[in-house]
Amino acid sequence: MYRYDQFDHQITAERVAQFRDQVRRRLSGELKEDEFRILRLQNGLYMQIHAYMLRVAVPYGLISAAQMRMFASIARKYDRGYGHFTTRQNIQFNWFKLQDAPEALADLATVEMHANQTSGNCIRNITCDEFAGVARDEIVDPRPYAEILRQWSTFHPEFGYLPRKFKFAISGAEHDRAAIAVHDIGLSVVKNAQGEVGFRVLVGGGLGRTPIVGTEICDFVPWQHAITYLESIVRVYNEHGRRDNIYKARIKILVKALGIEEFKRQVEADWQFTKNGPCTITEAELNRVSACFTVPAYEQLPEGDSAVEALQRDNKAFANWLQRNIKPHKVPGYAAVVLSLKKTGIAPGDATAEQMDAAAELADRFSFGELRITHMQNLVLADVRQSDLVALWKAADAMGMATPNIGLLNDVICCPGSDFCTLANARSISLAKAIAERFDNIDFQHDIGDIELNISGCINACGHHHIGHIGILGVDKDGEDWYQVSIGGSQGNSAGVGKVIGSSFAFSQMPEVVARLLEVYVRERHADERFIDTVRRIGHGPFKEYVYATPIAGDAKLDGAEYASLEKGTPYDMPYYSRRF
Ligand code: HEM
Ligand code: SF4
Repeated sequence: MYRYDQFDHQITAERVAQFRDQVRRRLSGELKEDEFRILRLQNGLYMQIHAYMLRVAVPYGLISAAQMRMFASIARKYDRGYGHFTTRQNIQFNWFKLQDAPEALADLATVEMHANQTSGNCIRNITCDEFAGVARDEIVDPRPYAEILRQWSTFHPEFGYLPRKFKFAISGAEHDRAAIAVHDIGLSVVKNAQGEVGFRVLVGGGLGRTPIVGTEICDFVPWQHAITYLESIVRVYNEHGRRDNIYKARIKILVKALGIEEFKRQVEADWQFTKNGPCTITEAELNRVSACFTVPAYEQLPEGDSAVEALQRDNKAFANWLQRNIKPHKVPGYAAVVLSLKKTGIAPGDATAEQMDAAAELADRFSFGELRITHMQNLVLADVRQSDLVALWKAADAMGMATPNIGLLNDVICCPGSDFCTLANARSISLAKAIAERFDNIDFQHDIGDIELNISGCINACGHHHIGHIGILGVDKDGEDWYQVSIGGSQGNSAGVGKVIGSSFAFSQMPEVVARLLEVYVRERHADERFIDTVRRIGHGPFKEYVYATPIAGDAKLDGAEYASLEKGTPYDMPYYSRRF
């Protein structure tokens, strides 16, 4: 994976020193909170309901075992022993003290990590396909390009104060696994008829208040011109994006207002000044960066393993795990393995320090010392020998990371919601828990098959609810938690925004709402049809009709006792749930 050069080391060290002094001045009262706020946000430090939250960047979701161990150490030293992996392939620590933040950043710098540009109106961490470099359907490995874009966008002098935050996602495979269509700029690395590598560029996608699927602005930008072309897009946005209204500030609004043709015309007009200029990527530069992503020392192995096949026949849990958590690898005899962070009772995406250490250990033992963080809030070991799958399964299971539910109902994407987030309208983690408990039967989940259930605690859509096959959005009604439900959203090659089925529901009604949606699916599905396919075929009508046909038990007014009994059910084994009732 990419190793820092002297420039990376220097700018990271300078940033830590600068922030240390800023925190010192804040603690001494020299800086007031309104002066300090922008400075802390530039260093990924938010203020949530209970404490500061530190968001650490994981460039394109790829980390080493040493870096994962550092996360465990940060969780133990400065937090409450756990961290939260996010849909942007980052990690967040939820219980920070201000005075500890500079020290934590200094610790992170020792393993080439930082929190730069994880907040603020700049180009944020660039996300990527979690199976980059190993996926069987890969056309071009996107990681060297992601790294070149990381270097280009880090502290870019022109793009430090954009109208709003700016997100890139990049994929190089036939199937988009990076949700590129719902990013400000989505990139597919492709090959043209001549076999030359270039970028298909989507622009103006995004979730939040106005969810929009990105539009193709160019079907092939030769890789040499990627930076200059993208720079022109961001420059046009920087110049014309709205700064007077935060809700209309994203590039998606500008693209919509101008129309893609006019936007493209302006981008190409700007590009004429820079195309072939100093930011053109040279062969030497691409080779330099690509050399950091060397192919691991794969052995020549046969495809398949007899011990794995034997256990698969005898042990259903193992067979389930193979079916859901193992993904095809381009090298014979290897597999990519997803470690599930979606055990029922645990907040989706949360990992304890012990789990992080264990994941690092597994990476060292089984996967060339590397891990990836997925935008579905799980971890990946990308290069596992198939003959090691039994040992890996046992070790991951012992650490609660082998739940065989990847892509199933309980593999929920979920934002922190009002358990932590100051912007939330409703709780999301607690709802994810209530739903997971209702459907905590792995046979049932396997029968339902591929489905994506995404939950956000407010319209900002951090939990990607718009693109969930079932999307749940927290809304506030007179101080109570209510939820609006949409179906038919999807990510990937046929990305689309879900459609709301009707008026919202109380917290206690939600597991039954999901159950009814599933009942309609089970009743209507054709063989081998996924939930999303059935929705597309029969439309929203039958789902809507059935969900609202009879009243759902669980009164709109949830009183304290009802909440308390929910909590009593199976308490989370982590002592961090806010008691807001
Ligand atoms: C302190 C906690 C957080 C705050 C204050 C926060 C704030 C926001 C805001 C204001 C937006 C809307 C941006 C816009 O539409 O202009 C947003 C969007 C988003 N956030 Fe968060 N967020 C937080 C935590 C998270 C977490 C934990 C995740 C991942 C699980 C996340 C991932 C995202 C994503 C994917 C979007 C998508 C919208 C888009 O860019 O199109 N955020 N967040
Ligand atoms: S969707 Fe809303 S509630 Fe959830 S993390 Fe984002 S801002 Fe907070």
